[in-house]
Amino acid sequence: MSFTPYERPVRAAFLGLGRIYDLNVRAYFDNPDVEVVALVDPSEDRRAQRQADWPAARTFASAAELAASGLEVDAVEVLLPIPLHAEGVLELLGYGWHVNLQKPICNDLADATRMLDAAKASGRLLRVMDNYLFYEPLVKLKEAVTSGELGEVTGYHLKMVASGRGGWDVPGSTYEWQFQQMRHGRGTLVFDDGWHKLSTAIWLFGPIREVRAWVGMTEVIPGIEVDAPTTVVWEHQNGIRGVWDITLAIDMYLRSDYYTNDERWEITGRRGYARVNRCTSRGIQQPSLEVYLDGAMHSYHALDDDWASSFRDSGRHWLSWLHTGHGPMLWSGTEAVDVLRFALAVYASDAKGGTGVDPASLE
Ligand SMILES: NC(=O)c1ccc[n+]([C@@H]2O[C@H](COP(=O)([O-])OP(=O)(O)OC[C@H]3O[C@@H](n4cnc5c(N)ncnc54)[C@H](O)[C@@H]3O)[C@@H](O)[C@H]2O)c1
Repeated sequence: MSFTPYERPVRAAFLGLGRIYDLNVRAYFDNPDVEVVALVDPSEDRRAQRQADWPAARTFASAAELAASGLEVDAVEVLLPIPLHAEGVLELLGYGWHVNLQKPICNDLADATRMLDAAKASGRLLRVMDNYLFYEPLVKLKEAVTSGELGEVTGYHLKMVASGRGGWDVPGSTYEWQFQQMRHGRGTLVFDDGWHKLSTAIWLFGPIREVRAWVGMTEVIPGIEVDAPTTVVWEHQNGIRGVWDITLAIDMYLRSDYYTNDERWEITGRRGYARVNRCTSRGIQQPSLEVYLDGAMHSYHALDDDWASSFRDSGRHWLSWLHTGHGPMLWSGTEAVDVLRFALAVYASDAKGGTGVDPASLE
């Protein structure tokens, strides 16, 4: 890799100005590490809307138009629909730009290999961001594990309930590519939102050696199925086991400024347990992190548990990384492929009736 840290503000472009731009952009506001020089989206309405944030930036309908304009760009914040990730990243690396891509990296290993090869050949960086790794209650949860206060970890549980009421509006055009993903066997709960849960598992406890899964389907509107109820269990190479259940509660209301999702992470050790009570939405009005030890509950009441802050901090990490080149990228392209393998092992196990699959064995 021929990366040289930047000593001046990074010249950045946004590619894709849809729903999630509202959160990714928080890393770029008031940040001396970066100068936003371009906004790219085929939608004229989106370009006009986002131009208000960056009056000095130039706008383009496509990455090709930006590349042809001669405007100097160092890095691109890629917020494209998932079906466009693979071809989009190949194109952007080809222009010589570093890429910060929204998860998931792509749908299959063949595309992932092409993307990693392209990054290597271009000498540019490919990062696949996961904001959950910057959500303060989860960061503190990891600290509770690594400090040893819980004792040796004996197991853990992730819970995710997708609800149909509450939260912000999602454009119909976003659902169109989500449905395309579902028809392609990459459901929104397991593969899209679920990516974060698989990612946090690897972040917490390292590589996975075996996955067993049972992926269910529920029709929510005629012709549209969602991938719940689903249960996944796995074992890390260090012997720790995890369990993740995905449930649909379509009529349940959840208060949220973003998507509605009732999420929980609970890690049990020999001496106690630690639990993150919520993340994307504000379902349970308990402290976002609780640690139980020796008959007493320690509750965290002052964490920055606004989910949007995790996008701000993930993006800042990337922009600061471009100035230092130090520390974990969270995630590099290679690490993102480990998460992809974990997800694909879920499908492979389900196809084999729930028997064990080693993610590393997938071709
Ligand atoms: N980290 C998270 O929790 C999280 C949450 C939601 C979405 N995401 C990810 O963010 C990405 C975008 O999701 P979204 O919900 O914002 O989607 P969206 O449909 O709301 O926005 C996508 C935007 O991309 C634009 N676009 C389409 N083709 C383009 C092209 N060739 N060049 C430039 N722009 C193009 C569309 O016009 C649209 O404005 C996806 O990868 C998704 O998985 C991540």
